[in-house]
Amino acid sequence: MHCVQNITQDILFLGASDRRLALFENVFPIPRGISYNSYLVKDEKTILLDTADNAVGERFLENLAYGLEGRPLDYVVVNHMEPDHAATLMEVLKTYPQAQVVGNAKTIAMIGQFFDCDISGRAVTVKEGDTLNTGRHTFTFLMAPMVHWPEVMVTYDAADKVLFSADAFGTFGALSGNIFADEVNFEQDWLDDARRYYANIVGKYGVQVQTLLKKAAGLDIAYLCPLHGPIWRENIGWFVEKYQTWSTYAPEEKAVAIFCGSVYGHTENAADIVANCLAEKGVKGIRLYDVSKTDVSELVSEAFRCSHLVLASATYNGGIFTPMENFLLDLKAHNLQNRTVAVIDNGTWAATAGKQMREIVEAMKNMTVLENGVSLKSSVKEAQRAELEALADTLAADILA
Ligand code: FEO
Repeated sequence: MHCVQNITQDILFLGASDRRLALFENVFPIPRGISYNSYLVKDEKTILLDTADNAVGERFLENLAYGLEGRPLDYVVVNHMEPDHAATLMEVLKTYPQAQVVGNAKTIAMIGQFFDCDISGRAVTVKEGDTLNTGRHTFTFLMAPMVHWPEVMVTYDAADKVLFSADAFGTFGALSGNIFADEVNFEQDWLDDARRYYANIVGKYGVQVQTLLKKAAGLDIAYLCPLHGPIWRENIGWFVEKYQTWSTYAPEEKAVAIFCGSVYGHTENAADIVANCLAEKGVKGIRLYDVSKTDVSELVSEAFRCSHLVLASATYNGGIFTPMENFLLDLKAHNLQNRTVAVIDNGTWAATAGKQMREIVEAMKNMTVLENGVSLKSSVKEAQRAELEALADTLAADILA
């Protein structure tokens, strides 16, 4: 049974949500599910923009059949070949044998890699700025390599001023009937997941996102249609500004997150002391995370949000406590930059985690590691409380400046 909504008079939303999947890409927890968006434009010719994941394939194909109302499908645009959007492409091509596949050269090659099928006779290969007219609508194809794969492109419809933005402007989270961002409280209920999606999925590719934002700035956009999450038709500039911040690795807020890797609670005690000192000095909105208990995708997301990071880790097997090391390597892999970082380590016979944490952070761009780190021997002694307070002093002065 179909589940379709109109975006404009002749543009339909055909997507569906998966609330059963535990891990997106088999790595990122999605307790609120995920939507796979697909769009059908019913012009003189019919044109489908991306397909959907296999998990929702049956519903998506029913939606497509309903949307077409018995008409043939003329074109399928593949903006992104990742299987969460393209797994059902071959099923669509089998069901609608006259449909032509529109993609760039990289996309067409990837289709041959994923599917054992020769589509050369029905491929329309496009490059930057090429257009396709379907009657009232004219679609322009703009390349967006590495947002999030090398073949990614976005498609702009000048008639209804719609940017089909592929993974850009997507978010984790299933859609619950309200497919538009202005129908939900996005800032309250979605922003954290949108940031976590951005930081973990495309955070590494800030330069390429900047290139896409520059292209988008030249377009008159009334509808922003991503492949995941709500569609934007109001206050688009607010969300674009978030992307501007995230893709330039600027902190979203002047705020502190304390990340703590503690084996028996002594390192956590030091982290708590710093948190309390910061609060006493007037710092608000402090977040303290146990890196063993919090999924690393959330930790990475918080590092993208906050200007100041405190890393407190036990020494483990002569190195950094494993979950903390995993977190820091993930941050480095995602190109995080421009943060102020305080380091606390702990060790019973040799506290080496601090030195190694510094080495990882200092290898990242424009990171300021505070000089007055604190090194503990097994537990916090009264004599070292002053060192932790001094560290909090430095942080608070910077945050509240
Ligand atoms: Fe939603 Fe990069 O796929």
